[in-house]
Amino acid sequence: MICVSLTEEIENQLKKSIKKNKTMGLVPTMGSLHSGHLSLIEQAYEKNDVVWVSIFVNPIQFNNSNDLKNYPRNLKNDISKIQHLSDKVRVFNPSVKEMYKDGLSTNYYDFEPLDTIMEGEFRKNHFNGVATIVYKLLKLFNPNDVYFGEKDFQQVLIIKKLIIIEKFELNLIVSKTVREENGLAYSSRNNRLTNSDRKKASIIYKSLIFIKSNFKKKPLNVLRSHVISSIEKIKNFKVQYLEILDNNSLSPYNNENDSSIQRAFICVVVNDIRLIDNILLN
Ligand code: PAF
Repeated sequence: MICVSLTEEIENQLKKSIKKNKTMGLVPTMGSLHSGHLSLIEQAYEKNDVVWVSIFVNPIQFNNSNDLKNYPRNLKNDISKIQHLSDKVRVFNPSVKEMYKDGLSTNYYDFEPLDTIMEGEFRKNHFNGVATIVYKLLKLFNPNDVYFGEKDFQQVLIIKKLIIIEKFELNLIVSKTVREENGLAYSSRNNRLTNSDRKKASIIYKSLIFIKSNFKKKPLNVLRSHVISSIEKIKNFKVQYLEILDNNSLSPYNNENDSSIQRAFICVVVNDIRLIDNILLN
């Protein structure tokens, strides 16, 4: 399997693909690949001639140094999960120095109000950090398609806006959240949960389903307090946010006469592990 760590080498590889008129899909990841990533990679190689999977833990999107330190990294394991999938798949695994040749600087974009709530509120500058690395990757690869998962729905809206701001011509492909058997959304952070907490964390998706089934049938404050109190009954589980917001603008949902498309978003912190999920309500 082709595995490249230098941007210059990527540029050489890309020149070869362009000469052969090949289409390319890019799947940006921070590694610790799970079934959610694998489903993005599968979609990418079904549609494109070449697929690049970037594996890079981007330091500037972490506002917490412990979170960055504890973020799981295992390149060998990641490669063993994808090398047999298709000979179209290649890996780009740069060093921090390679991606930030002029130092760890962040590009600041005007994403407001998308980046000031939920993940943006609790992880200061997170989205400008994400946007900076995604910008660098899109500039380097210039892919036909770029793939992201719906689990990070707020991130998807930010990237949609980045593509508009930077006038990238490509397709943003967003794919459905892949879940463990008990409903917990796959995340690299799940590996840090104890077996017992991992089982209990199924309450997150169950709560979202509960909100979806009762949306517009019961008052929002009743739904919110029911969900928060059920989750917080579990030892070490804390709801950091639970929001019902417009699916595109993330503006708050006001009343049952509002017919626009709404989505519920939740973040539950288990010890220090943040688990996020969301569901389309109507
Ligand atoms: O979703 C992620 O894994 C990361 O935020 C991304 C998009 C790869 C940027 O580092």
